[in-house]
Amino acid sequence: MAEPFNIDRFMDGSNKLDLSDIDWDEVPRHPLTPEAIRTLRYFLTTESSTFFYVRALMAVQGTLEEPDFAPFICAWMYEEEFHGRAFRRFLEAYGEPIDQTYRQGFFKTRSVGERIDEIGQSVISRIFPEAWPAVHMIWGTVQEITTYYAYQCLIDRIKHPVLDVICTRIMKQELRHYAFYREHAKRRLTASKLTQRVVSRALKIGWTPVGEGMSPREESIHAIQFLFDGAEGTAIEKVEQKMRELPGLEWFDLFTKYAVENGIRRAPASWFPERVGLPAVAAM
Ligand SMILES: [Fe+2]
Ligand SMILES: [Fe+2]
Repeated sequence: MAEPFNIDRFMDGSNKLDLSDIDWDEVPRHPLTPEAIRTLRYFLTTESSTFFYVRALMAVQGTLEEPDFAPFICAWMYEEEFHGRAFRRFLEAYGEPIDQTYRQGFFKTRSVGERIDEIGQSVISRIFPEAWPAVHMIWGTVQEITTYYAYQCLIDRIKHPVLDVICTRIMKQELRHYAFYREHAKRRLTASKLTQRVVSRALKIGWTPVGEGMSPREESIHAIQFLFDGAEGTAIEKVEQKMRELPGLEWFDLFTKYAVENGIRRAPASWFPERVGLPAVAAM
């Protein structure tokens, strides 16, 4: 991950998630707890909402100013869509029905914060045209690294052999998305103290954990408890450490604050098939 990001290499390597060898009949043979199913539905919604973020991004002039941005967004949206489809297929194989119009439903009920974000993006981009791309890149950085760790926790906690294979493949793509955002965020933050201040302000005003905007807050809280044990686990700290490596973001503590403010504690043992010996989230 220390290698500089290369957009041509990224585009050459971009692909839809390969699930051609998955034995879907195997899925219902491994029982899931209700809490695991609820968390998987959160992943379905989050992964399937990339289209709406891109929709909002397209309205922002700043997207045209970064040469790597348009190709990345095209490939990113394509890859994320297949992550969502993987969850849909998995849940359906388990016997959990997914309404065909599910995407319409969560877009209509998206949070007020999400709607403000969409407006806020175009406002920030007009007031601080130099800083807007950095704000977006930072958003992408924190959300992608959170997603990466979330997948690792999903594997460790659900312990489902088919899900393990799917998540491991998705994680490789999430890491490449993270590498893109991190590289661009770092470059822009390094170049300007004003950008560092605008980004810090924007994060403090508007950041929420990935997926919260498209799901009711209680679903986000449940997922953070299920996956991360709130602030009592190790994953949130890992996400924050990654953010603190970026210039001007040495203060980043928003995820811990979110967990504490929402009273997110360690998940009960009954949520997992086998809680003893749960591995800690490994640092990268
Ligand atoms: Fe994804
Ligand atoms: Fe991603």
